[in-house]
Amino acid sequence: MLHAVILAAGKGTRMRSLHPKVLHKVMGCAMLRYVLETLYSLGVRDFCVVVGAGSDEVRSFVAEWKKGKPVSIRLVFQKVQKGTGHAVMMTQPFLKYPGEVLIWPGDMPLMKPRTIRTLMRCHRESSNSATVLSALHQDPFGYGRIIRAGGDFIAIREEIDASEAEKRIQEVSSGIYLFKTEDLFPALKKIKPLNRKKELYLTDTVEILIQQGKKVEALPLALGEEAQGINSREDLATAVRTMKNREIQYHQERGVTILFPEQTYIEPGAKIGRDTVIFPWSYIEAGVRIGRNCQIGPFAKIRTGTRIEDGAAIGSFVEVNRSKIGKKVLAKHLSYLGDAVIGDMTNVGAGTITANYDGKKKHVTRIGKKVLIGSNTVFVAPVKVADQVRTGAGAVLTRRTKTKKGEVVVGVPARVVKKKAGYR
Ligand code: UD1
Ligand code: CA
Repeated sequence: MLHAVILAAGKGTRMRSLHPKVLHKVMGCAMLRYVLETLYSLGVRDFCVVVGAGSDEVRSFVAEWKKGKPVSIRLVFQKVQKGTGHAVMMTQPFLKYPGEVLIWPGDMPLMKPRTIRTLMRCHRESSNSATVLSALHQDPFGYGRIIRAGGDFIAIREEIDASEAEKRIQEVSSGIYLFKTEDLFPALKKIKPLNRKKELYLTDTVEILIQQGKKVEALPLALGEEAQGINSREDLATAVRTMKNREIQYHQERGVTILFPEQTYIEPGAKIGRDTVIFPWSYIEAGVRIGRNCQIGPFAKIRTGTRIEDGAAIGSFVEVNRSKIGKKVLAKHLSYLGDAVIGDMTNVGAGTITANYDGKKKHVTRIGKKVLIGSNTVFVAPVKVADQVRTGAGAVLTRRTKTKKGEVVVGVPARVVKKKAGYR
């Protein structure tokens, strides 16, 4: 039986936030979600989440994540934060043994599942009592150091308790461990708050197990960037950079040109087709789908729920939200397209706005194929426009504007004039 314990009760003092640390977002997605999803992808179905400060917020977040998944998640309340060892002790009634428990700090969202799979394999092959996932860090400041004697792992020393020589050690504990559950809890009973912080450190169980002659290893399998914990806003920004670079690389490997990676923001979970070019200062949210041979940006904001078909161009200062943009649609300048469905080959003139919100509800704008939208046209939704219609500059179309194929509409509110549209 593999259980996971996620530690998320700390106050997150160094974040200086009114919200729980684990709910802070990295590229649009809460740290805790990354942790839950990574564990889920590893096959974990039994979770214990230790919560403290802001537990209500964490509780509702977890309930939302859990919906429709075949998982059991217990929230264990740690009233006073007496340290990571104390936090794990709280979960004892909920873990079945014999079994394995994977312990994961909630502020560690960047770890890759592949690394954990290797950790699990090594742990099982060596029949370890405990296996600590470690990493080599250029700047190990703040992390627990892996202390070895003649190569053998003997202890983890926290920054605050470390000697000058120990502080120079670059191998650090990621805070992720695999334990034999039946060995963990007896060892936890023995730890004492004999450290500068007067906390019950989970890390001390390692020394206790070693003294008991149990097999304990620290394996430097993680990259420094994966093993980054997030304690401060500065750490958060570093994690965002790591995640952003990963996303950029993911799309590059799938045939997307990103002209200026440093200036491009693509959240995890977006899909982009081959030979699409992303110009600088584009902002693409999770769940967006973009086809092949599209041009996005510069300065485009593409929001969740949007689908852009092959060959479309979304240009500068265009925001697209929850919309379906057809093939070869051109929307190259200064527009807001929200809750819009736009047919193939329509040209969206500069300054086009879909007025989708009436103060209470959002409404849909449906625009046909090969429509030529004049500059500064406003669509007061709900509104429907036939194929090949042409709108004059500054036209305001409302639900009362009825159009037939190929008609020209002008004015405020827009009326049909006798003219032939003809376009593309
Ligand atoms: C911890 C580890 C350190 C490791 C580092 C990796 C200990 C003593 N230190 O240090 O060895 O290198 O993580 O990032 O374990 N928490 C609780 N209850 C508590 C205290 C903490 O749930 O009473 C939770 C926190 O919310 C956090 C996690 O445990 O998610 C780690 O606590 P944190 O204070 O961030 O520990 P670090 O100083 O980063
Ligand atoms: Ca931490």
